[in-house]
Amino acid sequence: MSELIGLRDDVYRRPLATALERLGLEGGWFCVDVGAGGGDVSVALAEMVGQNGRVYAVDSDPLARDVVARAAAAAAQAQIIALTQAGEDLLLPEPVDLAFCRFLLLHVHDPVVVVRRMAAAVKPGGWVVAQEPITSAGRIGGVPLSMRDARHQDIGALLPSLMRDAELSVIDAWGESPAGVGPGPVAQYLESLTGVDPGDEPVVLPPLVTVIGRRHP
Ligand SMILES: C[S@@+](CC[C@H](N)C(=O)[O-])C[C@H]1O[C@@H](n2cnc3c(N)ncnc32)[C@H](O)[C@@H]1O
Repeated sequence: MSELIGLRDDVYRRPLATALERLGLEGGWFCVDVGAGGGDVSVALAEMVGQNGRVYAVDSDPLARDVVARAAAAAAQAQIIALTQAGEDLLLPEPVDLAFCRFLLLHVHDPVVVVRRMAAAVKPGGWVVAQEPITSAGRIGGVPLSMRDARHQDIGALLPSLMRDAELSVIDAWGESPAGVGPGPVAQYLESLTGVDPGDEPVVLPPLVTVIGRRHP
């Protein structure tokens, strides 16, 4: 799991950086990273919120808790608290400033239930940010990609309305796709995800749609 997520962090780092910059994330914020996986986003958040902030790394897979704890220790980010919990049951010991998820909603049964729990986890006026793919908009040599094991492989295309359905104001929304040709991180990532080596075919990875939502103050 961590190898794949490390690659994802590499190729999808730019959309993450754009989102956190637009949000104005700063020292002292309390955050939750839902569907934290290997903890790449949790560590990135912890680095930005600093020692006065806090990051809850939540995942339904109990194995993720140890993986995140190791990633947090390796990055010396003691303010990360890893919890085993489904996004559908999200319940934190305190309200947070930001609830974040990336590559989560495509896997869950009912995405709007999870977004509603994220909205309930933030303080009034707090932020909910989701980054989810439109898998079928990715291309290998011009041919659309598909990810049949995901429940909602194109959930990114619905993200703005999901936020609205969860009674959040949509403050900003956009899509970004890493692309490349020949050997490199994009081809490597694609191969680890699909088992397909694109060779010299041009690759456009699935665009990641980011939506910044805000809970009413
Ligand atoms: C593709 S990984 C994404 C990891 C991380 N967010 C990232 O972008 O690198 C999806 C993660 O969501 C978790 N997950 C799936 N369904 C979930 C649910 N209903 N509630 C919480 N976590 C869930 C999985 O265990 C997995 O760790």
